[in-house]
This record gives sequence, structure tokens and C-alpha cells, in this order.
Amino acid sequence: MSKTSTAAALDKALAHARAHKDADLADLMEELRIPSVSALKQHHPDCVRNAEWLRARLQRAGFDAKVAQETAEGLPVVVADWNGAPGQPHLTIYGHYDVQPADPIDKWETPAFDPHVRDGNLFARGACDNKGDHMTAIKAVEHLAAVGDLPLNVRFLIEGEEESGGTALPQYLHKHGKELTTDGVLVWDGGFDELGRPVMATALRGILYVEIHARGAAVDLHSGMFGGNAPNPLNTLGRIVGALKEVNGHVTIPGFYDDVKPPTDVELAEWRTDDAAFQKAALHLTGARALEGEPGFLALERKGSRPTLDVNGMLGGFVEKGEKTVIPATAFAKVSMRLVPDQDWQKIFKSLEAYVQTLTTPGVEVDVERLGTAPPILSGADHPGALALQAAFEEAFGKKTALAREGGSIPVAVDFQVAIGAPLMISGIGQADAAVHSPNEHLLISQYHTGIEALIRFICRFAESGAA
Ligand code: BES
Ligand code: MN
Repeated sequence: MSKTSTAAALDKALAHARAHKDADLADLMEELRIPSVSALKQHHPDCVRNAEWLRARLQRAGFDAKVAQETAEGLPVVVADWNGAPGQPHLTIYGHYDVQPADPIDKWETPAFDPHVRDGNLFARGACDNKGDHMTAIKAVEHLAAVGDLPLNVRFLIEGEEESGGTALPQYLHKHGKELTTDGVLVWDGGFDELGRPVMATALRGILYVEIHARGAAVDLHSGMFGGNAPNPLNTLGRIVGALKEVNGHVTIPGFYDDVKPPTDVELAEWRTDDAAFQKAALHLTGARALEGEPGFLALERKGSRPTLDVNGMLGGFVEKGEKTVIPATAFAKVSMRLVPDQDWQKIFKSLEAYVQTLTTPGVEVDVERLGTAPPILSGADHPGALALQAAFEEAFGKKTALAREGGSIPVAVDFQVAIGAPLMISGIGQADAAVHSPNEHLLISQYHTGIEALIRFICRFAESGAA
């Protein structure tokens, strides 16, 4: 498509988007009513329904769309192709239709899967992560297609296991890598930063998620009759978990920091400028009384370029209201480690396994079970797609894009790099206070509509970028 006709397409598509805001919001709300929680088996039929819902939408928009059941047990991937612009660049858009569990449900002001609008925000689980995101991308493509001017070729790959460590999409990418050539992958699952700026991620942290199990006596025991003699796996697990991280935030697993690469001087200089504002915003967003972390590092380093370790949950013994005098027979803790380049989860897992054996107490058997992993990744921000997205953000939002290392993880990002090899653009439209993974998740509705416009602009720019 020529420059002038792309410019005309842009204007027509933007006008079409502005004329259909109500319908665009209503469509997002429809998807948000599907409780597609991948971590909970009882919601798997809802996940499949969500995949079908997306396939039908993309089919209506003119895509060749299917729901691919890649693994026997896992959840399907929505694969949708449109190749109506021969000779033009090819864009792949990644998103996920699964969401995190809604609990604690009593903390929601309105039900998690009954979307409500309040004060310019749309409240629902998934409003931001990731239905708000992938719907902006679907909408941008729909508006361009509706005015007959989608200027490049597009493939959507929307998975249902991002939040629960599934392997369907990674397997799909490795199996079909050769057929999936593309000029760029929009990994549309990031968001704006704490200072209100659009972000293009230059890195994502990896993750090593484990459960540590502790076993003492054969059965739960009377804590008076046996207290003083019986080993208590819950006491021991508390010691072990406590020992993994010092008071100052330093992780004690032997060799944990060996392969950590420091950030560049350019990154550090930028982070120094922004750190005070980030700390203030982080205090406000978390509602915590103080921030914690390794001394000698900026808060922004601790967010993006330093690894960390957190207990996500711990269970054992009697946890109902009131007293029960008992020495539990077993206990377990869920522990996640966020990893940075060039840490290797296999090495750290082995070291952790050996380390917990040195921390246990007589009569308590401990072992570490690996639940999920993803390697950390780096991503360039100066390839044609990255520059097109930054320009589009500036035009749509009137703001410069921050290049930043994200603290979160997108496990499949590495598979796009390895199996397809195209450059990534890791970003998204959710505001930093969207409460993702928390109760009352919400998306600023203005972010949604301006996000659609930004993506229409991005697609037109990418079409002209010479990326093909
Ligand atoms: N959208 C997030 C990842 C993210 C968060 C990217 C913040 C950029 C900034 C994603 O849906 C997510 O939450 N991923 C999980 C992966 C985990 C379950 C393996 C995460 O990071 O906890
Ligand atoms: Mn997400």
C-alpha cells in the first residue's frame, strides 16, 4: 500500500474507532463475563468457551481462525491469520485469554466476573491483564478491516495458560516455527509505568516457582503430650523460608547472584533520575508503610535488574478460627524466585535443593518440588517495529515511551525468540494502578480507547516501516 493510501486508511480507521466506542467497550465487557481462570480445573470449560468466543470474533473480522488443541490436558490456543496484504510486512500479536483466580472474592466491590464501570474505570478480573490488552489489538484490526484498509498481514496467537504455567503455546511455536515466520511479535501483555508513561520492555524477569514440603511425625499430634519431643515441620519450614532471605532482602541460596549481569550505565543513569518518583509511586500503589530491598541498589534495579525471592503462600496445621493444640505432620510453602539475565533456573534449583537439606532440623524431611519456570529475556527497542510502536504511543497518548526492564514474567516470550526469531515489542495499555492479580482489577476506559487508536497508528506505521 502506498504512503498516501496508508495515511487515508489511518484517518478512516481512527474515525471508525471514535464512532464505535460504546460497542468496543461492550465487546470487552462481554469477554470479561467469561470466568476463564486457567489455574482452576472447574473453570476449564469457561476457558474453552473464551477461546471459541475469540475465534468467532476473529472469523467475523475476516480471519482464518481456529482453536488449536495442542496438548491432551491443556487449554487451547486461538490461532487466527489474515494474509490479504501480499508483499506487506507480517505482524504477530500475542495475548492470553486466561486470567488469575478472583480470590479473595470478599474484597471485590462488585463481582469479579460481572464487569462494572465506576469513575471512568472498568472493574473486572482480566479488565487489564490481558483481555483489555488483547481486545485493543483485535479492535484496532477490526476498525482497519472495517474501512477496507488493513495494511499488513496479521496473525493472532492467544493462549489460555499464561497465568498457570502451561506448555500449549510454547509447544505450538516449536512445532510450527517454520510456518510462523513474521516480521515482529507484539507481546501485548505489559503496561504503563508508575509515572504514567507507556513502556516498551527491554527485559522481562524469569521465574522459578517451587513448593517446599516438610514432613515430621506420621500423624498430627497432641501438642501437649508430644510437644518438647516431636519434630514440628511447620516450625522448621518457617525457619527454612526465613533463612532464604536476609532481613535486608539479600537471598542466601549459594551461588544465587553468580550469573547476574549488571545493567548498563545508560540504564542506571535513567533509573537514578526516576528512582525517587518511582519509590513514591510504589509506596502509594502498594499501600505499604515502607519499601524493602537490598541496600545499595535503586528501587528500579530491584524491580527490573535484580533477582528476588518471595513466599507466595504457606500452609500447615490448624488454620480455622480459635485454638487447636496440634503439632502438624506436614507443611508446605510456595516460593517464587524472579530471575534476571544470565541466571539459570536449573542451577539455582539444584543449589536450593541442596541448601534446604542443610537448613532442616532432626526428624523433618524436606524436599523441593518445581512447579514452573521461565528464563529471563532481553529485548531490543530500536528495531523498526519498536520504533513504530514508540512513535504511535507518542501520537496517541502525547507521551514519550519509557524503555524499562519489567519485573514480571511472560513465560512464552523466550519461545517466540527461539522458535520464530522475530524481534519482540513487549508492551501494553494498562495503567500501573490497575490492580492486576489483586481484587478490584480495573482498566481506565480512556486507556482502552486511546490504546485502540495507538495500535491503529502502530499498524499503519509498521506497514510502512520496511520491516518485510
Ligand atoms: N502481564 C503479566 C506479566 C507482566 C507484568 C508483564 C508486569 C509486564 C509487566 C503476566 O500476565 C503475568 O502476570 N505473568 C505471570 C507469569 C507467571 C504465572 C509464570 C507473572 O509474572 O507472575
Ligand atoms: Mn498478563
